[in-house]
Amino acid sequence: MADISQQQIETVLKQYIDPYLQKDLISAKAVKNIQIENTTVTVDITLGFPSQGYNDTLSQQIKAKIGTVDGVSMVNVNISNKIVAHAVQKGVDPIKGVKNIVAVASGKGGVGKSTTAINLALALSAEGANVGILDADMYGPSQPRMLGISQQPESKDGKTLEPVKNYGIQSMSIGYLVEEETPMIWRGPMVTQALEQLLKDTNWHELDYLIVDLPPGTGDTQLTLAQKIPVSGAVIITTPQDIALIDAIKGLKMFEKVSVPILGVIENMSIYICSKCGHEEHIFGEGGGLRMAQEKDVDFLGALPLDISIRKNADEGHPSVQVDPEGRIAQIYREIARRVSAKLSLQAKEYTAKFPTIKVENN
Ligand SMILES: Nc1ncnc2c1ncn2[C@@H]1O[C@H](COP(=O)(O)OP(=O)(O)O)[C@@H](O)[C@H]1O
Ligand SMILES: [Mg+2]
Ligand SMILES: [Zn+2]
Repeated sequence: MADISQQQIETVLKQYIDPYLQKDLISAKAVKNIQIENTTVTVDITLGFPSQGYNDTLSQQIKAKIGTVDGVSMVNVNISNKIVAHAVQKGVDPIKGVKNIVAVASGKGGVGKSTTAINLALALSAEGANVGILDADMYGPSQPRMLGISQQPESKDGKTLEPVKNYGIQSMSIGYLVEEETPMIWRGPMVTQALEQLLKDTNWHELDYLIVDLPPGTGDTQLTLAQKIPVSGAVIITTPQDIALIDAIKGLKMFEKVSVPILGVIENMSIYICSKCGHEEHIFGEGGGLRMAQEKDVDFLGALPLDISIRKNADEGHPSVQVDPEGRIAQIYREIARRVSAKLSLQAKEYTAKFPTIKVENN
């Protein structure tokens, strides 16, 4: 029997298209090592996104592919994850302790942006990443309630704030500092200034991802934020109805204007499933998010149903992904989390943070 060759293994590996990277693992440079010892093949894979809910499936797929090669009796697959920092807009400095900021935005309020943002954060965490969330909706902070937090952040030095930790993620919100009922009468420049401070003066600890729940809309304030916050990628939330879609497109254009890559579109309240009889209804129209993504040539990341449990869990301070991380709803958010982070992993890397500034002195 002829020896198994590296070439043979690579050829079959190339047949598996990773659903998140949307390319094969060799082209994605995720295969770090292939070791062939007699009839045993060992493959080391390193993914640039968190993948705990996907590792078993991936491992099975790889084993099945390599198993088709003549003479292979055993396949070992080692999967690891390495999340790196990705490039931000030119001229803005990355935030200390944060590898990637992902902005969650919507063209208008009430589409479920905050609910999606927190569940996405928890989903990335469930997949194995180190995650934080910044509630940037200064007018209507909702993260404290959804995270079930009523305490105030600590300050160790009287200058900076410690993020508040719950459910394994770090968070900061203006809602921790003012009463939820107090109406905030901010004017544009105040919002951006206060927010920049909240972002920069928080001691984020080694975050792979910081999810920023932006204020709804596409006005001057939002544009300024999109310019000033060092964002690696943006996710747009929309409902399927036309009016929300029109605003979502405005959001998309806003990020394009400031050269922030769009990671994709999430359709929320996509379909209503009656909790009594299980029949399905497209209350806000059908497939609008998908059509919009196709027309604007961005990824469609997934759709969440209009489901009473999503609202109830969030209102009670236990978002769906936290309360039931293996449940049906959580799986949708986790699938989206893998798509978002895999998409981000294909973006250009950030180098500025890695190297110290080199001073050239002439004497
Ligand atoms: N998929 C969903 N199914 C049911 N209720 C939802 C869903 N997404 C959000 N909600 C509810 O809709 C309301 C608005 O959501 P929220 O996240 O606060 O929106 P936004 O931040 O865009 O203003 C909240 O009461 C929330 O619990
Ligand atoms: Mg909100
Ligand atoms: Zn019914």
